[in-house]
Amino acid sequence: QVGFAHVEICGLILLSSVSITVAVQEKNPLAPCLPGPQGPPGNNGVPGHNGHNGLNGEKGEKGLKGEPGTRGPQGPPGKLGPMGPKGESGQPGPTGPQGSPGECSPRQKSAFAMKLAKNYPAPKQPIIFHQILYNDQQHFDKATGIFTCQIPGVYYFGYNVELYRNTTIIQLMKNSQAVIGSYQTTLNSYENMSGSTVLKLEKGDKVWLEVNQESNGATHTSYFLGYLIFEI
Ligand SMILES: *[C@@H]1O[C@H](CO)[C@@H](O)[C@H](O)[C@H]1NC(C)=O
Ligand SMILES: *[C@@H]1O[C@H](CO)[C@@H](O)[C@H](O)[C@H]1NC(C)=O
Repeated sequence: QVGFAHVEICGLILLSSVSITVAVQEKNPLAPCLPGPQGPPGNNGVPGHNGHNGLNGEKGEKGLKGEPGTRGPQGPPGKLGPMGPKGESGQPGPTGPQGSPGECSPRQKSAFAMKLAKNYPAPKQPIIFHQILYNDQQHFDKATGIFTCQIPGVYYFGYNVELYRNTTIIQLMKNSQAVIGSYQTTLNSYENMSGSTVLKLEKGDKVWLEVNQESNGATHTSYFLGYLIFEI
């Protein structure tokens, strides 16, 4: 404001001095004063200072959605995930090597199974069995029909005798004593009779089967067997 006022004042002074000069050159300085011709327009004033900043405009409308950007570089590896469920059982592994023998003595064995294989054995003596089904330890003597205990223990003995006609009495003997026996009479049919027991034997005890009838009916399909259950 102050600057603008200053320019106006200077302009008036300039105008006055020009008018005075013209009047002095063309007229008699003593003639009555007449208004001189209008002077030329003054020079343009100095540009004013910039105005103050205006107030902020209203908020513009929302712009359009931009194009998707290019894919960024690969990130670092993620953290280790949680443990998965238990898998299925695998195949059994190969058999390991045989272990060294234990401190206990090896289990003793004693077993036999015989088949009569011939009809009508001789009475009042140990029955001779003619066919061996099992007798690896040879504790049963095929020649005499007698089992002799080698390992003190508890044994199982059993027989199955098939008979035909006649009355047949069969007895399981231990050292000349009848332990168990069976009795049966048949006419024209085949019959089986069987018996079994458990005996405690000392070493050297003898066990056999015997028929005590002169005319017995024991057939070839008759059996006698025994085995060690446990040692004592
Ligand atoms: C008696 O038993 C033996 C088997 O131990 C069998 O072969 C035979 O056929 C049986 N006999 C009868 C008459 O059932
Ligand atoms: C009994 O058996 C004998 C052979 O050992 C035979 O001679 C006899 O006829 C039989 N007895 C009967 C009643 O069948």
